[in-house]
Amino acid sequence: MQTININTSKPYSVLIGSGLLHGSVHSEKIRDRNVMVVSDDTVYALYGKPLCSLLKRGGAHIFTFVFPHGEQSKNLSTYGKLLEEMCRVRMTRNDLLVALGGGVTGDMAGFAAGTYQRGIDFAQIPTTLLSAVDSSVGGKTGVDLESGKNMVGVFHQPSHVLCDTDTLLTLPEDEYKNGCAEIIKYAMIGSRRLFQSIKEVPVSGQYENVISECVTMKRDLVEKDEFDNGPRMLLNFGHTVGHAVETCSGYKVPHGKAVAIGMAVITRAAEVSGLCSKDTCDKLLDLLASYGLPTDTSCDLSMLSAAIMTDKKSRGGKLTLVVPREIGSCELMEIPKSSVPEWLKAGGVR
Ligand code: NAD
Ligand code: GLY
Repeated sequence: MQTININTSKPYSVLIGSGLLHGSVHSEKIRDRNVMVVSDDTVYALYGKPLCSLLKRGGAHIFTFVFPHGEQSKNLSTYGKLLEEMCRVRMTRNDLLVALGGGVTGDMAGFAAGTYQRGIDFAQIPTTLLSAVDSSVGGKTGVDLESGKNMVGVFHQPSHVLCDTDTLLTLPEDEYKNGCAEIIKYAMIGSRRLFQSIKEVPVSGQYENVISECVTMKRDLVEKDEFDNGPRMLLNFGHTVGHAVETCSGYKVPHGKAVAIGMAVITRAAEVSGLCSKDTCDKLLDLLASYGLPTDTSCDLSMLSAAIMTDKKSRGGKLTLVVPREIGSCELMEIPKSSVPEWLKAGGVR
């Protein structure tokens, strides 16, 4: 097992290892507290029981909120139902919410925890590779609006993160690929070594080490810039185009695959502008392809440009893009919004 301590405004630890859901919890953290377990239907059927047993052994009073799986549930309606349920069972500010699942569950449950009675504790138990390496750490929470991805939310750090790598054994192949896209993102923004390592050995053959390496990289950025005004923005490599692809596809293209497309588009455009070499671009495209990830979108240029204009990262008439310079090194670049269509065209969007 590996432990990574995150020193944000509210410090917490991330535990990563096999069999953690069948272990024990420090009962002083949950004894006699109300604990609301939030999960989607698929994940609850798989891991609801072991988690509830773990919490019961620690002396918690357990309630559950289970919603239909998928990004379509990450909205104000499900969030509202969860808040009503928390009220109905009389959760108080001393109680705890536990997000069991992927990024959809973590983002929505975290938002409910961050806003219910002006904020209560929550724990993240990631069960997708994507949530293990990225969304369970760092405190970004929120839901989608019809007009865009993650348009409402708060920063609210979890009080614990427990990543049982055994849960990844039931992950469908497509969800594995989505997680690999975020791992390739980490390699591109900060670790040539990780890039090489996942080229040589599949991520599935080295879960604990890869997750620890990604969480450590995220910790370093989040500790420097908890509220996402500076270096943390590097974690958005591929996300500006990616979020637009998700929105334009009506969320038929999932987050990880959309990020893969976003990284490919920006890297091709960076090559055209002379910001990175052809070799860097080819290596990225080859690695994405070797993990079965897409590098092109069928969304058209005008729809995608329009969706990017509403991106949260745009401020005034400008947008901050994350641009690759070489494998393991990206930089932030402010561009005028008016140049977005040119960037997309250079990146192969038609
Ligand atoms: P998800 O939560 O929808 O999970 C994907 C699918 O996998 C779901 O159908 C779920 O039921 C299923 N699943 C989950 N764990 C499983 C398991 N162990 N075995 C079998 N099936 C399992 O999606 P995701 O890819 O985990 O997360 C995507 C979301 O995360 C997006 O909404 C994205 O915006 C968000 N995100 C947030 C951050 C952040 O920092 N907060 C970072 C990256 C992504
Ligand atoms: N997933 C991007 C971030 O947490 O900043």
